[in-house]
Amino acid sequence: MRVCVIGTGYVGLVTGVCLSHIGHDVICVDNNEEKVKLMQSGQSPIYEPGLSELMKSSAESARLHFTSDLAKGVDHGEILFIAVGTPPLPTGESDTRYVEAVARGIGANLNGSDYKVIVNKSTVPIGSGDWVRMIVLDGLKERQKASGNDADANFDVVSNPEFLREGSAVYDTFNPDRIVLGSNSEQAIAMMKELYQPLVSRKFAKDKSLDPVPVVVTDLSSAEMIKYAANSFLATKISFINEVANICDRVGADVTQVAKGIGLDSRIGSKFLQAGIGWGGSCFPKDVSALIHTADDYGYSAELMKAAVSVNIRQRSIALEKLQQELKILKGKTIGLLGLTFKPDTDDMRDAPALGLIEELNRLGARVKAYDPIVSQSGLSHGLSGVIIETNAEMLADGCDALVLVTDWKEFEKLDYSKMAKLMTNTVMIDGRNFLDRKALEAIGFRYLGIGH
Ligand code: UDX
Ligand code: UDX
Repeated sequence: MRVCVIGTGYVGLVTGVCLSHIGHDVICVDNNEEKVKLMQSGQSPIYEPGLSELMKSSAESARLHFTSDLAKGVDHGEILFIAVGTPPLPTGESDTRYVEAVARGIGANLNGSDYKVIVNKSTVPIGSGDWVRMIVLDGLKERQKASGNDADANFDVVSNPEFLREGSAVYDTFNPDRIVLGSNSEQAIAMMKELYQPLVSRKFAKDKSLDPVPVVVTDLSSAEMIKYAANSFLATKISFINEVANICDRVGADVTQVAKGIGLDSRIGSKFLQAGIGWGGSCFPKDVSALIHTADDYGYSAELMKAAVSVNIRQRSIALEKLQQELKILKGKTIGLLGLTFKPDTDDMRDAPALGLIEELNRLGARVKAYDPIVSQSGLSHGLSGVIIETNAEMLADGCDALVLVTDWKEFEKLDYSKMAKLMTNTVMIDGRNFLDRKALEAIGFRYLGIGH
């Protein structure tokens, strides 16, 4: 089918590339010219395992094009994905101005004759589906006033929330737990089912023997709520185990054993029970605060979700408290951070726990060094002022009074910690993700502190 994806960020680009890989004819539109040029040369502007390989193979198949020309994309696609950013405003509500700009732009470029499905991929506040329809109609009317012809509005809006995890977005696209489609138009739903048929039949899945992927068809608002409820539940589950970890710290229990023991209960499940310095990224913080904000708008205070957020904010200072407990005065001390990104296998620093820790350490007069497998190479400097970025773990360890593992990058399991210990002034390790082998580190002479572990 002919598809246009507008907004080639972490979600839009993965969606466009994967849809072309499964056989659709895709045009990706972005208003960032450098990004478009980079993608036209077959390179990905973001780090996402498996994405650049797919981009190269799709480029050869000529079913994947990039442009900054919205009109060209709108004309090409029978299905138009809105996947532009919806970052949080300081108040916590979603900033939907980009969605509005794109929806208006789509309206202004609809020719009114052939039927189109407009898909909300970006996470938008509940009830936005009807709002997007209104904006597209506004765009259409403005065009009609200008050109005088009265093309009728031949489109429907569908909410199709994404559940992609950064660092495994390509895998998650080909192996979804479910596909959610929100619309009251039979025709739109039918077209979306046709679009996703190769994914539903698991043609590109890791395990092709599984049953077809469930397709959940709902009204618009329920589909939007599914996205927010899923992210808010996952964030709450993490804050729950972090709360248990903080109690474990005080009673001498081990949260990793507790997580194992409760996770085997099929009603709980073992995933997202990894205690640590808390959740970050571009989705959990934004989506939980947006849902809390929506509830407030409708006169309801979402106490449980507010508690999940406050536990998460407090969790970030636990690593600092443990550093102060061990080193007493941090002023003049050198602290090395292992990892900076909000999770492994991504280059995304948005709302990463490391950023708050760096701010606090700078405020207390500590010298901060960091090594991150991706950030150290990428020259990313957002929020890292005053941080000495090292290019390997040994250079990081040199002269440090303590190391803090902030991101559980796989490669941190296999570092030469005995060599690093010899380079350190003090051998203190704060394991912010309970990720390292405590016994091995203690055998080398580290003073190891985990989070409830
Ligand atoms: C998006 C949504 O913001 C988020 O709600 C959803 O949960 C995940 O997908 P992300 O893909 O990370 O998040 O957005 P971002 O990385 O900010 O990319 C947005 C892209 O849209 C950028 O490439 C930007 O250049 C482009 N854009 C933005 C446009 O093409 N037009 C615009 O008007 C605005
Ligand atoms: C999340 C959702 O998982 C995904 O479905 C949605 O589409 C986007 O938001 P993402 O934010 O990319 O994906 O990463 P995720 O793997 O969910 O981790 C989010 C944060 O939680 C990270 O900071 C991670 O370190 C933290 N986390 C995750 C924990 O602290 N403990 C865990 O057990 C799992």
